Amino acid sequence: MSEKATLSVGGKEYELDVTVGSENEKCIDIQKLRAESGYITMDPGFGNTGSCYSDITYVDGANGILRYRGYPIEDIAEKASFVEICSLLIYGELPNAEILSKFRRALAEHAPLHTSLEKHFAGFPQGSPPMAILSAMLNLVSCFHPDVLEVYSEGHGFDRTAALLLSKVRTIAAYSYRMSIGRPLNQPNPNLDYSANFLHMMFSEPYREYEANPVIEKALSLFLILHADHEQNCSTSTVRAVASSRANLFSSIASGVCALWGPLHGGANVGVIKMLEDIKTSGRPIDHYLDMAKDKSNDYRLMGFGHRVYKNFDPRSRILRNKVDVVLKELNRKDPLLDIALELEEKTLKDDYFISRNLYPNVDFYSGILLRAIGIPLDMYTVMFAIGRMPGWIANWRELHDQRLRIARPRQVYTGATERSFIPLEER
Ligand code: CMC
Repeated sequence: MSEKATLSVGGKEYELDVTVGSENEKCIDIQKLRAESGYITMDPGFGNTGSCYSDITYVDGANGILRYRGYPIEDIAEKASFVEICSLLIYGELPNAEILSKFRRALAEHAPLHTSLEKHFAGFPQGSPPMAILSAMLNLVSCFHPDVLEVYSEGHGFDRTAALLLSKVRTIAAYSYRMSIGRPLNQPNPNLDYSANFLHMMFSEPYREYEANPVIEKALSLFLILHADHEQNCSTSTVRAVASSRANLFSSIASGVCALWGPLHGGANVGVIKMLEDIKTSGRPIDHYLDMAKDKSNDYRLMGFGHRVYKNFDPRSRILRNKVDVVLKELNRKDPLLDIALELEEKTLKDDYFISRNLYPNVDFYSGILLRAIGIPLDMYTVMFAIGRMPGWIANWRELHDQRLRIARPRQVYTGATERSFIPLEER
């Protein structure tokens, strides 16, 4: 017999189903609670609330485990390409050679932007935030492909839209950078793989092609893989909430980009570098910053530390940290920010405040140092996160549609004024 939970409230008992995931994650299913009892549950920030059953990504925060479709992140990081991981996350299985080559061809086909779409970049004022450009342009792309607006999760239409988004996001990101520095746009090169093509569009100049470096390309591919999905985080939950109204893939994902922008989520990778720069230039000791982070009378936080789910090391942070060494060695360079980051991490590991709250470096702590080494400008870091997260958003959009989930519509407990009579303006 399956396990049940009993809730005793208001002098009555309610029996609730208990469900268990494939990794033994336990859940009390309260879907019928309000209808049967009149009670709702309260969980701001959704720390204890499951919104779906999902087959895509597994995170065990207590033990620092992350798996995409069952494959440990450590294996994937070393052995896979980003395009393989896109296919794995979206379709559920590792692609064979034939499927992969078809997928790569679709990405190459969709990489160029419609010439009218290119002109829209010129309409953004100088210095526009790249995340604003990205979310606006992703919605705009849909205007040039009205046929894909009606697409749901099955068949050729979905495959085409998914490939289109995965490819166009890279071109849009590179073009927004080129516009921001006033340099001509570089057309995508179909002969280059995903990361190399992005670097070419970012850094090639009319008479000087970007010089390919396999170590840098591999590091960028690793960055994208590590950001590819992370179950029900803020932006993915946003994509799902928008998609639950049966909104199309473009608008759902453009909303995800906006959610990612915030400094507590994807924007933290910019925050980390600004924090490390500040430590470097201020000349103040690291302890000063630790004290500020611990002081409850101000909002200062150590950027790149802490996580809702991980109460142990974020495995992505360790992998990134090691990759930073590889890239700096390849470039024969040192980065003073890395030394500061290492010292900061070491101090937090010995500090009761951070130990007792399980605050460890998260994915954003070393990712910025890696992007710096690759040559990506600071204001593009969160855009890079968005490119990486695209397959996860698409996979979650598809799963929600496949499962025909109900529209997202949380309840509230009203705490405002009780009924009162309207007072006409002249009497107020
Ligand atoms: N520095 C100092 N104190 C912290 C930090 C931090 N970075 N993070 C959490 N705390 C403290 C917090 O003040 C609270 O203390 P107390 O129990 O005394 O009130 C306790 O730790 C729990 O924090 P919380 O805010 O309840 O945790 P949360 O799960 O709501 O927030 C978080 C998670 C990631 C938003 C938060 O840790 C944070 O703001 N970190 C800094 C921003 C950051 O690096 N974000 C990237 C997250 S990982 C990638 C991604 O998802 O985008």
